[in-house]
Amino acid sequence: PSLSIKDNVIEASLPTGQSVQVHLYGATVTSWKTNGKEQLFVSEKAHLDGSKPIRGGIPLVFPVFGPPPQNHATSSLPQHGFARNSNWEFLGKSTSDAPGKDSDKADLTVKLDFGLSHSMLTEEFREAWPYEFGLVYSVTLTKDTLETSLQVRNEGKQNFEFQVLMHTYLSIEDISDVRVKGLDTKTYLDKTLQGSSHVETSAALAITQETDRVYQNLDPAVPIDVTSAKSDQSLFSITREALTDVVVWNPWIEKAKGMADFGPDEAYKNMICVEAGSVASWQTLEAGEAWEGGQSIKSRL
Ligand code: BG6
Repeated sequence: PSLSIKDNVIEASLPTGQSVQVHLYGATVTSWKTNGKEQLFVSEKAHLDGSKPIRGGIPLVFPVFGPPPQNHATSSLPQHGFARNSNWEFLGKSTSDAPGKDSDKADLTVKLDFGLSHSMLTEEFREAWPYEFGLVYSVTLTKDTLETSLQVRNEGKQNFEFQVLMHTYLSIEDISDVRVKGLDTKTYLDKTLQGSSHVETSAALAITQETDRVYQNLDPAVPIDVTSAKSDQSLFSITREALTDVVVWNPWIEKAKGMADFGPDEAYKNMICVEAGSVASWQTLEAGEAWEGGQSIKSRL
């Protein structure tokens, strides 16, 4: 696998052609290509200079899925916490090959590791959330998947509570053709309806309006499939580990226009966020303990 590091952007690619790009700002994955095709959506107006969380790719939400609740240890943090707007460090790459195979390189994978800890935060964030923590975020590229996983360590003497979410913006051709499968019978909070609770009745969810739903208590091993209604093909299939909630978000027409960093206006047709996380309640991490969770996204191509 080849690796390049330039202007705080890390790029890795496999001999089989797949590539991934990660900005140190937020450890945000900003590109994932398979067969020359971009799989992630990044807004044309996204800020890539570290002045604002990147609108697209996979921003990482930690330690709070915003807006932060009142009277909680995260109350003074910005929307979605500080991970997506902090400068991470690159810890290095590792490669692996399936044993016994060397001729076609088809099983080669590359893993990029990124770290963030309390001392690396801005003073403002350190004061707002004074816990000693260590994060290691691993981005693994394989022939047909992109895997992201986060390890959270409590390096202090006090317990802390956190939420985490991998806010993946998937690139799609046409939102009207997209169906999301794997959610039926699941309870969700509808953030467009004052967070009211509902039960999903659709086996193939169509997105026809602003959608902002937090599906809860899913079995992480059961894939969420983003499919094409026309071809009935799976476009993306997402399995998770230790992440039991899934947020489905599309801003639709008015919200898309209202976001200064979202563009062009019609781009809401070309994206859907399917976000694997642990956000419905809080994970408590005892002093000295570690937690790990992640997702694996398989693309059709
Ligand atoms: C989603 C939330 O995860 O992120 C939405 O459920 C929110 O409510 C969206 O609007 C985008 O958030 P932000 O902070 O990146 O504009």
